[in-house]
Amino acid sequence: MIVSGFYGFHGFCTILVLLSVLSSISILCWSHSSVSYYFREPRPESGVGPGPSHPTDLLTFPLAWNHLSFPSNPPQKLLKIALFVKKWPDRRHAGGLERHALTLHLALAKRGHELHIFTTSSSASNFSFPKYPYGNLLFHLSKPTGGGYLDQALVWEQFRAQNSTERPFDVIHTESVSLMHTRSRNISNLAVSWHGIAYESIHSDIIQELLRAPDEHPANRLTERSLKVVEEIKFFQNYAHHVATSDHVGDILKRIYMIPDDRVHVILNGVDEHVFKPDRQKGQDFRSNFGIPPSKSLILGMAGRLVKDKGHPLMFEALKQLFVENSTFRETVAVLVAGDGPWGARYKDLGPNLIILGPLQQGQLARFYNAIDIFMNPTLRAQGLDHTLLEAVLSGKPLMATKLASITGSVIMGKEVGYTFSPTVDSLKKCLYEVWEDGRGVLEQKGLVARERGINVFTATKMAAAYERLFLCISNGKKNQEYCKY
Ligand SMILES: *[C@@H]1O[C@H](CO)[C@@H](O)[C@H](O)[C@H]1NC(C)=O
Ligand SMILES: *[C@@H]1O[C@H](CO)[C@@H](O)[C@H](O)[C@H]1NC(C)=O
Ligand SMILES: *[C@@H]1O[C@H](CO)[C@@H](O)[C@H](O)[C@H]1NC(C)=O
Ligand SMILES: *[C@@H]1O[C@H](CO)[C@@H](O)[C@H](O)[C@H]1NC(C)=O
Repeated sequence: MIVSGFYGFHGFCTILVLLSVLSSISILCWSHSSVSYYFREPRPESGVGPGPSHPTDLLTFPLAWNHLSFPSNPPQKLLKIALFVKKWPDRRHAGGLERHALTLHLALAKRGHELHIFTTSSSASNFSFPKYPYGNLLFHLSKPTGGGYLDQALVWEQFRAQNSTERPFDVIHTESVSLMHTRSRNISNLAVSWHGIAYESIHSDIIQELLRAPDEHPANRLTERSLKVVEEIKFFQNYAHHVATSDHVGDILKRIYMIPDDRVHVILNGVDEHVFKPDRQKGQDFRSNFGIPPSKSLILGMAGRLVKDKGHPLMFEALKQLFVENSTFRETVAVLVAGDGPWGARYKDLGPNLIILGPLQQGQLARFYNAIDIFMNPTLRAQGLDHTLLEAVLSGKPLMATKLASITGSVIMGKEVGYTFSPTVDSLKKCLYEVWEDGRGVLEQKGLVARERGINVFTATKMAAAYERLFLCISNGKKNQEYCKY
């Protein structure tokens, strides 16, 4: 066996990876050396793999594509892309799926691709559809069905009209089931991004059932959800390529949903790194604007929808008990809460330690992250990667979040970037105590590590480059083309 001296252990791993059919051995090697060695290094050109004659097949690449470095210049081949998305976000209200669609497709339009977005017109009468300064970003609106979905027959007509011009679409992207499986069948140049699948949601159902008050009706969720998983396993096959937005979901799609490895690709969500970045001064200004006294030595932050399934009842109870139990904790801790929902008003009952900010515009939100010492997300929804976690990481803040597999598998992978807790009041209290005792200095260290790691993985640029490459790769439906190699 020839082991190049230059590559040393890494070279050995490469050879193992290439030779080994035992994926367990390969993955061990990959995770020990490849991520840090091969993929963090800037790579001048694509197609130059670990050994030039043995480039990596991207379609079977087991890790998140965000770890790879793709050229920053737009590709020679510009694509005509169809996007199906149920709802296009207005500036004020956007859930994870919509924000993902917005960030990704604006980035692709900036790079010169021609985007046709098939989405619903808003039913709100005074809603003005946002305008963007790109001639290559085209919207095809249609009236939503009664359930708020895309009218499949209608959008398909719109799609076909665009596809039968002299330039047919190179690739089709659907955010979740916006384009239904009955339409996606047999289209090889199609990718679907999942932002929550039923198997993952079973964990949420279990948590909700455990937290159910004795006088509340038991929900039949768990039985229903298992049947939903079976249903999904059947119809997911009708989508040619699948993008998992967390490592955990990638694993489920391959293992439980039985989708072949070369049709499942992990591309983690990314957020705008030009908006979300460390800025000490802005953080201080934000604190003084809201009159936070210097006696507060720990500032906790939360953002997002302030609803039950984001874990706010748990957080409320944990904070309430801590404030009663420990007066020092009460005197030294402040909690900033951004977002809207019924728990915004309820948090006010906890007294002046809770500062309720309401929903924030993106720029304000960026300042908010800079003002806090740690970002907390007590979500009970096991569904992909929450954008707020990634925004906090790029802002250089450590995290504290529920032990859900997508979070522990892709973001809070260890103590060095944050804390995780089980969704119970006791576990959450313990975690809050730990954070408080560790204090600002330790948290700053963790924030630095989180930022350093995040900037290589969770940026919008990284995400868009990975999707672009996937789209280039599948656009001709042939596997053995240049764009599918790394
Ligand atoms: C316009 O929309 C806003 C928020 O979406 C709403 O509060 C307001 O009442 C609407 N105004 C009219 C005239 O419909
Ligand atoms: C789009 O048009 C091309 C060229 O006519 C055709 O090969 C392709 O099947 C069409 N795509 C769909 C999804 O109908
Ligand atoms: C789609 O593929 C299935 C199975 O390969 C085949 O039975 C069916 O006829 C195809 N449908 C169309 C519309 O091409
Ligand atoms: C609060 O907790 C800290 C750390 O556990 C402890 O040292 C302190 O005595 C407690 N203070 C009160 C008032 O209970």
